Amino acid sequence: MVRMIEIKSPDEIDKMVECGRITRRVLDELGAAVRPGLSTLELDEMAESIIRAEGAEPAFKGYFGYPATICASINCEVVHGIPRRDKILREGDILSIDVGVRKLGFHGDAARTFPIGRISPEARRLMDACRASLEAGVAQAVANNRVEDISRAIQSVAEKAGFSVVREWVGHGVGRNLHEDPQIPNFVTGKKGPVLEPGMTLAIEPMVNEGTYKTEILEDRWTVVTVDRKLSAHFEDSILVTKNGPKVLT
Ligand code: MF3
Ligand code: CO
Repeated sequence: MVRMIEIKSPDEIDKMVECGRITRRVLDELGAAVRPGLSTLELDEMAESIIRAEGAEPAFKGYFGYPATICASINCEVVHGIPRRDKILREGDILSIDVGVRKLGFHGDAARTFPIGRISPEARRLMDACRASLEAGVAQAVANNRVEDISRAIQSVAEKAGFSVVREWVGHGVGRNLHEDPQIPNFVTGKKGPVLEPGMTLAIEPMVNEGTYKTEILEDRWTVVTVDRKLSAHFEDSILVTKNGPKVLT
């Protein structure tokens, strides 16, 4: 099978940088706003107004029928939690916010997990391991490496900390489309994957679980949860492969 991974031109990279800036701004502002008592729908409304004020569009809204701007996934929810007026943040929760932005024909995609007030040491350790696994993965996003080098670094950091990495959901190329080739698993599959080249833009996104890596989808047909209902964290950045190493766009 022939894989087409688009190499972005300098002009296209400028547009990706702009999308990345807006995506990051949304996460920074939502991260500063989260507190016990807030609903995930209020966060969604904040995100949409920031994005529209930037002259951009929420990339998730309408994507396969997804109804919102952000995914807001609490505790055992892994990804794709749908914001709701009656979903209220509580002290001790961990909340992952994932957001996608479209502008000038390109996309940014990123996620962070935030603590709500004081959280348990175990929850903190999980978040830290997930973030560290993302950083290790990004560090491998260098020209002439393969996708599997990213996967291996992520898995190794997460598992050395005593956690598991989700198998069913993976990172991806990002650019003109929210999701493009290549797929970027967060674990070693045995397939080396494509060679990385300068000008590729990738969304790297480990989901790291406290217990089993196994997940299931709730009856709303979106929300992904851990099968054992233990905690899950999610960090994601959109990055550009350059000849001088990875550049984080978000
Ligand atoms: N979690 C997905 C990603 O980061 C995005 C959610 S897609 C949507 O790639 F369907 F929710 F829009
Ligand atoms: Co993504």
